[in-house]
Amino acid sequence: MENRTHLTGIKELTVEQIEQLLMRADYWANRPGEFTGTLAGRFVANLFFEPSTRTRFSFEVAEKRLGAHVLNFAAEASSTTKGETVYDTIKTLEAMGVEVAVIRTRHNGLVRHLASQVGLALINAGDGTNEHPTQCLLDLLTMKQQFGRISGLKVAIIGDIRHSRVAGSHLHALPRLGAELLLAGPPELMPDISTLPHGVKTVELEEAITTADVVMMLRVQLERHDRTLFASTDVYHAAYGLTLERAARMKPEAVIMHPAPVNRGVEIHSDLVEAKPSLIAKQVSNGVAVRMAVLEYVLHGGGTTWASCLQTAAC
Ligand code: CP
Repeated sequence: MENRTHLTGIKELTVEQIEQLLMRADYWANRPGEFTGTLAGRFVANLFFEPSTRTRFSFEVAEKRLGAHVLNFAAEASSTTKGETVYDTIKTLEAMGVEVAVIRTRHNGLVRHLASQVGLALINAGDGTNEHPTQCLLDLLTMKQQFGRISGLKVAIIGDIRHSRVAGSHLHALPRLGAELLLAGPPELMPDISTLPHGVKTVELEEAITTADVVMMLRVQLERHDRTLFASTDVYHAAYGLTLERAARMKPEAVIMHPAPVNRGVEIHSDLVEAKPSLIAKQVSNGVAVRMAVLEYVLHGGGTTWASCLQTAAC
């Protein structure tokens, strides 16, 4: 099997690779709307087996800005409904000359598992409750743009940590980049603390909100719960949501982030979504820049040629 470069998870990236991806993404973030022909004549397929708005469309925008031919795959209209596996679907695309497949799946670890078996480059667009590496990178880029650094920041991730692939990726990024990571939320939705890396700790909600530089709220992922944990969304909001009163106790320079989709009035008060400290729209914009960088990275194969072109138009 050809030795391709994939992006299967943040866990598999070195700190240097993360920093290079952020540098390249910042290059594109500073050039909104610019198109290039780096991927001209090359085919990229978006295979989403779970719903998505931000990730799917920002990959498509990124692919088109790099000049790629884009193939969008509707799982419900594909031969997977006739029993074809994801592996056979990818091999079929590979046989047609597709060079990159962007995959969202509900199966933890599937993208990594497939990466050693296929000849095209794979990008993980979210796998179950495992990882969401491009969301993590766009969050990191947004923090870096806001504070000029990631090292030394105190980042609080609040809510349904147990089912969050975004938190899953940040566990492997923020501590390695020198940030302090605080986790807070309902006990039933917290991860097993014995598995947390060094630099990560669980705290009470009040400490998370009042001491963090970044307050990142997470949606309650009801679709991944096997039982009802809260009497109502109002009960959750009062107990664990970012209410107006709690937001007023954030540090003066602290910012609000959220990977979205947002459930207004549940994990976050509706008025805070577009309030001054909120970087939620900025995160979405940065999603395009990050995905342009990731597409270039996998097609370049990482390595020295990639490292040497991070500040040039044709990378
Ligand atoms: N943040 C995120 O992954 O959103 P989508 O599910 O809309 O892609």
